[in-house]
Parts: sequence; C-alpha cells; structure tokens
Amino acid sequence: MTDPKLRVLISAEKIQARIRELGVQISQDYPDGKLQMICILKGACFFLTDLARAMQRDVLVDFMGISTYGKGKTSSGEVRVTKDLDIELEGTDVLIVEDIVDSGVTLNYLMHLLEQRRPKSIRIAALLDKPERRQRPVHVHYVGFQIPDRFVVGYGLDYAEKYRNLDDVCVLDDMGEASTAA
Ligand code: IMP
Ligand code: MG
Repeated sequence: MTDPKLRVLISAEKIQARIRELGVQISQDYPDGKLQMICILKGACFFLTDLARAMQRDVLVDFMGISTYGKGKTSSGEVRVTKDLDIELEGTDVLIVEDIVDSGVTLNYLMHLLEQRRPKSIRIAALLDKPERRQRPVHVHYVGFQIPDRFVVGYGLDYAEKYRNLDDVCVLDDMGEASTAA
C-alpha cells in the first residue's frame, strides 16, 4: 500500500514464516487432548486464522470481544467484555490468541477472568509484544515479535478501525493528532 504515513516494520513474509514456527512449537507443546483457542476480537482474528492453520493438530476456536482502546492510540485503562465465549472452559487447555501486548491491562484482566472458569491450563500467544510499555504483569508464552514502543497498524491492528487489512505490520507516523482515547 502506498500510504505515506505507513512504514513497513514486519513484512507479510516474515509474519507468515514466524507463524509457521509458532504453529509447530505450540503443536509440540500440546501433543494430545482438546486445545481451545480463544481469539480476542477484533485485532487477533487475522493472527488466529493463520495460526490455527499452522497448527499440526486439531484445535477448537471461539471468540471473545474485549475493548480497552477507544478511537485513539492510548489506552483508556478500562476493560470491557463486549462478547463473551459460547463455550465452557472447565478442564480444557486454553490458548488465548491476541494481536499485541502493550500495557498488559487487557490480558492481565482476561487471565483473572478466565482462570475463574477453571480451565486445565491457560497460555497466551501474542503476535506482537511491546515490553517497554508494560504496566501490569502478563506472562506471554508464545510471542511472534518483540517490537519497540511505536504505534503499529496492519495484520489486524487498527487505528480508529482503519488499516486492519494490511498484510504487513506498519508503523503509523504521528499525524500530530491529539489522543482521542475513550
Ligand atoms: P493493553 O491492554 O495495553 O496491553 O492493550 C492491548 C490492546 O491495545 C491490543 O489488543 C490492541 O487492540 C491495542 N493496541 C496496543 N498497542 C497497539 C498498537 O500499537 N496498535 C494498535 N493497537 C494497539
Ligand atoms: Mg486487541
């Protein structure tokens, strides 16, 4: 895409190669039993569909809607469940699939929420991790790429709902806009 505000940070080829590696690794870590993948909407749906297909075993898929960001680039710090799971988690190996871990507020909240449902185990796979930004502790078992503290879009990640459908992960240049976090 020839948008002057975008600079490719991680190319589509690199993303896909890394997801294939993660699929092999995660499959080896769960040799048997049910594996329930949980996609955190909306950003992780691109990662989920590629990761699920890179897995070398059966997986189950469900979706959960969580909202922390408004239309801006900074977190409101408030977490809201906008769509809950359709399935029970008790006794199940659970893999949360998230696009990016930033402050950790979302996943810290979600881990506590889902642990109350007594899964057999629960791990997180995140395509991107911005460790410098962490405010709440989160243990991310599977990380695609660690990235610096820059606002990125593409491959599911948005800015005000735009840019999700880019194949690459791109840095969005600051356009001098004030933060409009909800
Ligand atoms: P956290 O709760 O601060 O860890 O934020 C996690 C959520 O914030 C992610 O699931 C994204 O939806 C959003 N987010 C964090 N950083 C970025 C970014 O660089 N680009 C787009 N969305 C982001
Ligand atoms: Mg998200």
